Amino acid sequence: MTESTCLNMPMVTSPEFWRNYAESCAGKGPSRAFHGQNWDKAAETYDDLETCHDYQNQLDTVISTLLEKGALDRENSVLDVGCGTGTYAVRMSQLVKEVMCLDFSEAMLGQLKAKIASSGISNVTAILTDWRAYEPDRQFDLVFCSMTPLLRHMQNVDKLLGCSRRFVAIISWAGVKSNPLFEAVYKEIFGKKDENPCMDILPLFNYLYTKGFAPDMHFFNACWERTRGVDRQVEAMLWQFELKRELGDAEKRLVRQMVEAQARDGLITVKTRVRLAFLMIDKEMARKPC
Ligand SMILES: C[S@@+](CC[C@H](N)C(=O)[O-])C[C@H]1O[C@@H](n2cnc3c(N)ncnc32)[C@H](O)[C@@H]1O
Repeated sequence: MTESTCLNMPMVTSPEFWRNYAESCAGKGPSRAFHGQNWDKAAETYDDLETCHDYQNQLDTVISTLLEKGALDRENSVLDVGCGTGTYAVRMSQLVKEVMCLDFSEAMLGQLKAKIASSGISNVTAILTDWRAYEPDRQFDLVFCSMTPLLRHMQNVDKLLGCSRRFVAIISWAGVKSNPLFEAVYKEIFGKKDENPCMDILPLFNYLYTKGFAPDMHFFNACWERTRGVDRQVEAMLWQFELKRELGDAEKRLVRQMVEAQARDGLITVKTRVRLAFLMIDKEMARKPC
């Protein structure tokens, strides 16, 4: 008896298995992450990440790897899906012919547009739309998608693949995310540990692998250390908690109290240990004649 007939479910070696697995995990994730307005609240503080040494290293490694592989080239076009404030798009724009940025948060795109205007970039376009509803009418040499909840659903990943002429690059969580302050406050408010099983590279990698790709993978083991004012830290944390559900006034006060308790002279330093995966597909490798 084969595994599939025995369990009456698709085999672990089939993309269908991983598509279903990803879907079953995604159902447990915060559904509020699928509304653009909920990301608007993150736009103001999002680029604080760029003050982290390890994050700058990650940005440099991603860009230099894409260059090395030929995904970034003077003649190339790039689509950045869920581009946020354009952290990657702005860097890539210096190295390619054009970058099309797509995001469903007006405030995130507002930050990107401010960067475009202040640095005189002329080859980046910003489109306000939901990737799930977007109907692509062309392909791009590189399709890039970093750290978005879109990666929980494999039909969104299929759409990334379909839009790419050659390269697809993806960045996602890889099993490690730990921030003691966040965890302590989360437990006070929600009464349990935060479990976020869906934002992980595992089902995504396996899905792509069982589809016949052999993605290159690089892992970033990082410590994101950010020092911010109390108000800014509270704002950033409230946004994360409110991806789960709206908080009441007493709960918001509790967040502030717990942040203030760890602050010195109005500033607080927060460390987050993370591991991220940077995955890259070159569709031409799979087509290489044998
Ligand atoms: C964590 S941010 C990452 C931003 C950027 N890719 C980066 O790595 O710096 C996630 C972004 O994905 C966007 N996003 C999430 N779901 C989306 C969807 N369905 N369509 C378009 N954008 C989406 C959010 O608005 C947000 O700007």
